[in-house]
Amino acid sequence: MTGVSLRKVHQPVLLEQALEMLNVVPGGVYMDGTFGLGGHTREILKRSAPDGKVVAFDWDEDAIRLGLENVGRGRDRLQVIRRNFREIDVGLREAGLEAVDGILIDIGLSSLQLEAEGRGFSFNRNEPLDMRMDRRRPITAAQIVADSTEEELADIFYYYGDEKQSRRIAETIVKERKKSRIEMTGQLAQIVGKAVPKKYHPTKIHVATKVFQALRIAVNEELANLGTILEKAPDYLRPKSRICIISFHSLEDRIVKRILSRTEKLKVVTKKPITPDDKEIKRNPRARSSRLRVAERLA
Ligand SMILES: C[S@@+](CC[C@H](N)C(=O)[O-])C[C@H]1O[C@@H](n2cnc3c(N)ncnc32)[C@H](O)[C@@H]1O
Repeated sequence: MTGVSLRKVHQPVLLEQALEMLNVVPGGVYMDGTFGLGGHTREILKRSAPDGKVVAFDWDEDAIRLGLENVGRGRDRLQVIRRNFREIDVGLREAGLEAVDGILIDIGLSSLQLEAEGRGFSFNRNEPLDMRMDRRRPITAAQIVADSTEEELADIFYYYGDEKQSRRIAETIVKERKKSRIEMTGQLAQIVGKAVPKKYHPTKIHVATKVFQALRIAVNEELANLGTILEKAPDYLRPKSRICIISFHSLEDRIVKRILSRTEKLKVVTKKPITPDDKEIKRNPRARSSRLRVAERLA
């Protein structure tokens, strides 16, 4: 995909609001913890020109490759680090930085990851049940499905997916995996469909949506990553600079709200989360559930 066609398909979420909150100024140095397809970084580079810098983290090599195509001018002011953003301390040290003028985190999956073939995030295609954003990591979704106990699976589905049928689904998975290993997305989606009685099938989403979301969160340890970056970030923010977090579901938003408000070095800027307006949701339905929270480093 070229930079031009990528820009057409990829629309960074809450772009205006996040950039305004980040207070990007010429010459500033910013960390984008979730480079993805480079949508937010591109704009930060523009607004921090001519000599501002971005240090961008992403752990997905495909995202980094495509993101770099999308960045356009200003690429010479960008350093991309293939690391988990929770390793902010190591990454910034490698970049020769002690602190930055702002941090942006836009968590979750990029449209590329969801739509690309062979990543195993979607039940719309039958492919290996992988779901690792960073393919250097050892544990895939298939391994979690194969090796977790029934109770562990039920907990994953319930806590990370808010799946009310978690026990039924876990029980059916354990029965089915005795017959044959569950290796493919299609197999899992079918098993979930079978486990949940028809009268409980949701009408607006696929019956396996929540199970897939829950497994993705477990495979990538998404909540632990979020907690860790929120704990560490204040030590790397210059006084009066800000951390902006865009999250996509209430589980993440609760963690962001709780940690930001109890961190002594931070002042919460957004009492209520900033959400996209109707125009953005119409243009980009993926933005629908996004929420932006912002905190400022005390002087
Ligand atoms: C929603 S996308 C970011 C989109 C980006 N803001 C843009 O406008 O193009 C999230 C990206 O963050 C990456 N990511 C998620 N969790 C991460 C983590 N803990 N460490 C590093 N990258 C992570 C994913 O690989 C994905 O590419």
